Amino acid sequence: AKSGYDHYMKKEIHEQPRAIRQCLRGRVDELEGHIALEEVAALEPEGTVQFVACGTSYHAARYGARLLRQRGVQTQSFLASEYTADAVPVSDETLVVGVTQSGETADTMRALREANGAGATTLALTNTVGSSAARECDHVCYIRAGPEIGVAATKTFASQQVALALVAGALTGDASPAFLKALRELPDQVQTILDSSRAREIADAYVDADAYFFIGRGDAAPVALEGALKMKEITYKHAEGFAAGELKHGPLALVSGETPVFAILTEGSKLEKTLGNVKEVEAREAPVVAVTDAPEKVGRYADHVLEVPSSHPQLTPVLANVQLQLVSYWVANRLGRSIDKPRNLAKSVTVE
Ligand code: F6R
Repeated sequence: AKSGYDHYMKKEIHEQPRAIRQCLRGRVDELEGHIALEEVAALEPEGTVQFVACGTSYHAARYGARLLRQRGVQTQSFLASEYTADAVPVSDETLVVGVTQSGETADTMRALREANGAGATTLALTNTVGSSAARECDHVCYIRAGPEIGVAATKTFASQQVALALVAGALTGDASPAFLKALRELPDQVQTILDSSRAREIADAYVDADAYFFIGRGDAAPVALEGALKMKEITYKHAEGFAAGELKHGPLALVSGETPVFAILTEGSKLEKTLGNVKEVEAREAPVVAVTDAPEKVGRYADHVLEVPSSHPQLTPVLANVQLQLVSYWVANRLGRSIDKPRNLAKSVTVE
């Protein structure tokens, strides 16, 4: 069932080009210059769009919320376990989007039920046909990633990001030709990364570190959070992700020559500013790994570069994440961890 791969996680990382292609199929019309997402065609959100989700799906939600906000829509993102419709103003103009791969996460289900009870319109963004979320919500959009066995979410995260990019374009009618073209090119670009990544070398170089930090700004900030979560889950090592600007407000105290810092420095994520943060950690002798589509600009500030193809600035975070998945995978592999079934974790969390 692992088709020659050592782990489902590795197989699923490598299935991402196909997963993204399936997510896009029939939904992008480059000739007409628009996104045809029937699932949300009836929705014209007048009010705020609220996102509720947990874990990796929450990181996807944060990313999707940014893409909508950049198209003029007011958004809020909530950890589902922190969402209570009585504390968060909801009206019949509010659209609440539950981002949940399994469609069964108890915290997310509770938030969606409350939102429905409070009169909001609800949309489930899920991978699972007929799931609780799909049944609870007024509207459903499937991410079409195919089954994911590894407990650590990989291809479902990529598919959530892509589906949310489609939702952002479809809800607002704002999808430029460059954005549509970049969506079409994503699967091949992910394949290029899978074929050429140097993540394994980086993992070998830093497998003994006690802690890892991940920083990124703007659209890349949610991917920094996701990079750290993946590292924690499968390596059992201390890892933290931050919006790059937050580093100096506390976490910098933890940075030393022993803590590799993965900096997402992609065009469109204010890379000049993030470079300022990179210099701060370098002054503390931390090794820096740049994940970038602009190696000529940032290469000299980094000890290592993990390159990603250039894309639309709002979509490069999808590519950067793939490099970070591979680094975590190879660190966990070197450590001999139970990659597909990390200790204490379950694929679907059905308790609150
Ligand atoms: C991390 C991971 C979890 C899930 C979270 C929500 O790799 O898989 O953080 O993302 O439990 O799950 P869903 O998306 O099924 O609601």
